[in-house]
Amino acid sequence: MENVTITNHPLIQHKLTLLRDKNTSSKEFRSLVSEIATLMCYEATRNLPLVEVEIETPVAVAKTKVIAGKKLAFVPILRAGLGMVDGVLDLVPAARIGHIGLYRDPETLMPVEYYCKLPSDINEREVIVVDPMLATGGSAIDAITKIKERHPKSIKFMCILAAPEGLQALSSAHPDVEIYCAALDEKLNDHGYIIPGLGDAGDRIFGTK
Ligand code: PRP
Ligand code: URA
Repeated sequence: MENVTITNHPLIQHKLTLLRDKNTSSKEFRSLVSEIATLMCYEATRNLPLVEVEIETPVAVAKTKVIAGKKLAFVPILRAGLGMVDGVLDLVPAARIGHIGLYRDPETLMPVEYYCKLPSDINEREVIVVDPMLATGGSAIDAITKIKERHPKSIKFMCILAAPEGLQALSSAHPDVEIYCAALDEKLNDHGYIIPGLGDAGDRIFGTK
């Protein structure tokens, strides 16, 4: 799939191994999610448009570049997406943050929306949606459909683990959205969990369950 980038940098792969380990504590899990989000954000922002500006260094005038237009908006899908916010803000501290609350109904696996608050000027911004897990793809598809109603300049989706089923579904529903994931896993199990995966990302970040 040409709209999918696997960000398999050695540092990311090493941290991902620690993240998958069932013996990793919530405290360490939270730090790892954040660190992986920072590293992935570096890749996902590689093609941001630049404009030339002129500044004065202490010794000369220099023509140099800054990111064009308004800064990014990041939109975490609650709850687990919140774990990636600090990490991406380390790279783009002036970004705006929107929130979309969705949970998967455990029976139907269909996403249920319970919250949505997006920056008022999101139509002037490039958006990166963040959620550690892309399983069936239902949550990401619904979140992006909702964000598209507000006409942002572009939308990217950044997750840590993806299942083939979720990648396929998201690419078909939103072929214009570039997807970044740290690893593409094998499959989903009967409960919609990614195999081998890392378990329930929200529960491991927040220490619930
Ligand atoms: C998880 C995860 C994604 C979703 C992925 O959230 O953070 O949002 O599942 O599954 P999907 O691709 O099949 O939709 P969950 O519903 O467990 O909610 P939580 O983050 O509040 O725990
Ligand atoms: N959501 C999770 O948190 N983990 C999975 O494996 C699938 C969906």
